[in-house]
Amino acid sequence: MKSVTCTAPVNIAVVKYWGKRDENLVLPLNSSVSVTLSQDQLRAKTTICACEHFTENKIWLNGREDTFESPRIQNLLKEVKNRAKQQGDGGKILDWKIHICSENNFPTAAGLASSAAGYACLAFTLARLYRLEGDISDIARRGSGSACRSVHGGFVVWDKGDKDDGTDSISRQIAPHTHWPDLHVLILVVSDKKKHIGSSEGMQTTVRSSELMLERVRQVPKRVDLISNAILSKDFDSFATHTMKESNQLHAVCLDTYPPISYLTDVSRQVITLVHAYNKYCGQNKVAYTFDAGPNACLYLLEENVAMVTALIKYLFPPEDVSEHFVTGLPVDEAKVPEDFISTLNLPIQQGAIKYMIHTVPGDGPQVLTDNDECLLNENGDPNYLVPEKRKIDCVS
Ligand code: DP6
Repeated sequence: MKSVTCTAPVNIAVVKYWGKRDENLVLPLNSSVSVTLSQDQLRAKTTICACEHFTENKIWLNGREDTFESPRIQNLLKEVKNRAKQQGDGGKILDWKIHICSENNFPTAAGLASSAAGYACLAFTLARLYRLEGDISDIARRGSGSACRSVHGGFVVWDKGDKDDGTDSISRQIAPHTHWPDLHVLILVVSDKKKHIGSSEGMQTTVRSSELMLERVRQVPKRVDLISNAILSKDFDSFATHTMKESNQLHAVCLDTYPPISYLTDVSRQVITLVHAYNKYCGQNKVAYTFDAGPNACLYLLEENVAMVTALIKYLFPPEDVSEHFVTGLPVDEAKVPEDFISTLNLPIQQGAIKYMIHTVPGDGPQVLTDNDECLLNENGDPNYLVPEKRKIDCVS
């Protein structure tokens, strides 16, 4: 038996990937830029075991057995094995069946971009298992486009590439997470029961029906340059302006989709109003929002503004249960909201509209775990949570 356990991070795009030019190879219509978040708060963890005695491939995701036959998993696995064969390594274990167990350290129901971390972790762990060399972002891409950015830490660009075979559609780090130490992130998890249109389906409908999308694709290269330069020069004001404009444009093309898609809710729009009002009150950008295919807000801000922005969010969206931990992740100092600002703010107080907040920072790329206690599968290749008394297997064997 051979087994490997790894972790991979979540990433949040500041220039969004929306629309494919090739569905099968998962090739995007435009390049995108993202920030990889710290795995202390948000990460996927995956153990993969290969054994000549396993009779079938199996996968358990977040505590439940799932289908191995999903096209995304099959697509990704096929690519990994092709690569292993090309590199002439892997040996007989390439023919063995595998068991995969993966879980996130954050609630999947929170509606956070978990597929990016999950597929990046799957690609990275398989690459370790079969001893692949070189870039694996194009392998992760086969699972989910945004996953290709989670194979790197820090600040990442996914170049769309021009070739039909997708060999130049890969991601690269433009700066490590240590580059901008005072950049912090607040994720606001909005209470929302609505089922959203998944990003794959949403972007397909946009590409088919939105004329505004043609204009967006024309504009994105300039935005990639502007945001990359703002990151490299640590220019928060410019980073914030382009991040917010970009998010607004994504949601504009969603509304221009026919039938329209609206991911933002009243609560999301109130967060947008609050951010612009606070930036105006301060006379410069102190905080920037960005939204993916759902109502949760991701706020980028400098460390010195975390306490005040958290206080403002708590003021406008007080938690229903004060005893619950409303702010999770890194600790946040207390701050008093400025009366003169609040009195001009024409927004209703909405108790319970935000479930909780996660305070985090940019972080590193995927990691291999060598401590046997981290392994999610036991010596029979079953998840530990099913038979906890079984001996854990060697993490990297
Ligand atoms: C709005 O990567 O989930 O989060 O490739 O179809 O799996 P598929 O899509 P996915 O799309 C992410 C869309 C987004 C923007 C982004 O992360 O760039």
